[in-house]
Amino acid sequence: MQVDIVRDVKFQKIDHLFVLLAEGGADELPEVVTKALADSKFQGRGDEALTVLAGQPRKLTLIGLGKRGDLSHRGVRAAITSAGRTAKKQRDTKIAVLFPYALPNMDDDATALAVADALAQSDYKYSAFLTKKEERERPSIHATLIAPNANAKKLTAETNALASAVRTVRDLGNAPCNVMTPQALADRAVEVCKEVGVKCTVYGKKEIERMKMGGLLAVNRGSVLDPRFVVMEYAPKKAKKHVALVGKGITFDSGGISIKPAEKMEEMKFDMCGAAAVIGIIEAVAKLEIPVKVTGIFATTENLPSGSAYKPGEIITMMNGKTVEIVNTDAEGRMILGDALHYASNLKPDHILDYATLTGACVVALGSETAGLFTDDDELARKLIQSGEKTGDRVWRLPVWNDYRDLIRSEWADMKNSGGRWGGAITAAVFLKEFVDCPSWAHLDIAGTAYAESETAREARGATGAGVRVTIDFLRSL
Ligand code: BES
Ligand code: MN
Ligand code: ZN
Repeated sequence: MQVDIVRDVKFQKIDHLFVLLAEGGADELPEVVTKALADSKFQGRGDEALTVLAGQPRKLTLIGLGKRGDLSHRGVRAAITSAGRTAKKQRDTKIAVLFPYALPNMDDDATALAVADALAQSDYKYSAFLTKKEERERPSIHATLIAPNANAKKLTAETNALASAVRTVRDLGNAPCNVMTPQALADRAVEVCKEVGVKCTVYGKKEIERMKMGGLLAVNRGSVLDPRFVVMEYAPKKAKKHVALVGKGITFDSGGISIKPAEKMEEMKFDMCGAAAVIGIIEAVAKLEIPVKVTGIFATTENLPSGSAYKPGEIITMMNGKTVEIVNTDAEGRMILGDALHYASNLKPDHILDYATLTGACVVALGSETAGLFTDDDELARKLIQSGEKTGDRVWRLPVWNDYRDLIRSEWADMKNSGGRWGGAITAAVFLKEFVDCPSWAHLDIAGTAYAESETAREARGATGAGVRVTIDFLRSL
């Protein structure tokens, strides 16, 4: 959905105006709204919605938000999403939205950006493979967010840059795994980079062998498709800081020889959402001209069983020379990330952030609406948690204590690739740390947040774009 933020709007051009109201109303409301309120019993409770035929605008829908003191980012996101879905169902093409409050701890601009961002995604659906005409030919919706005190022009540009980057990530994640192969993912990175003027280098299997990326090559052995290693370099002139972003790009994770159960295995097409997030972030930083040097890096392959697949009992030498005893081929993400993190460390950036659908254990710990954050840098943690709260792309910290390394100790190699079930998200982070040589590194486990297993009040089913918003806000704070 295309979104414009404006200070004022002419209602005669609007099909459908949506007004989000808490109990007790708001200070200044347009006449058409106060009239509808006076004629109705609408109070603003959280479960209320009321549509009236208003004339100009044609339709007016009041959406209740509950008590004003309980206003939250997530509550408003849900209300906005329901507005977008209603507009889509009713085939409105020109809608306007009014949210006459500021979100807690946010100014008018930050509030407008959050609301506009939710609006921009509210009609998203991945329909590339739906052949029915009505699914393919939905009218596109143009939305206007009325924000009387916001910096309208600047925020409109920001909203649409961010929205396009998030859509890129969602489309990449939702694409089926026979289409979104390692080669295709690399091709999309090249295309996105070309569009925004960023240098992109794709390394093939020969070069990956020459770089001695033992982890990536080991995981790749079960697949008939070659791996790819991709580096995107956004380097604005005025940059003082350099941040490297690393993504996990497993285009399908069957578990390999340690094969997963059949149930929900299809969800493992989303196992490249870390790499997709890195591509999306590069798109957004370039479009927004953020004055920080950002290098986006991802390793990509399938993880499949076959006669040539890597097996439990093997010992693999990684790019940084460390050896890993394979005890579970389903712990493949850390194998490809180990090499990618070592590659990133060689660039000597100020910070490294990695994004990976790494462990089911992280989803057990934090659920599906908060990503796991692992870092030894308290200042970086503080900033990322704050950016997460502000953008709704939440992260929460779990420890990376060194004594957990005992759980991945190996008799035969420098470490094992799995520490078992207990503390699985932490032992995965401790494993990754063995490949990082950078004073400020954070690992984001997005296994729970990268895709929604089913539709929620705030999100369509499928890839969500997790990682983009929190990172863009963080990069702005540098
Ligand atoms: N891609 C999975 C993690 C995952 C699980 C993501 C569920 C999203 C939803 C990862 O490669 C994996 O299989 N992890 C194992 C690690 C274990 C073998 C140590 C896991 O979480 O079970
Ligand atoms: Mn796995
Ligand atoms: Zn995986």
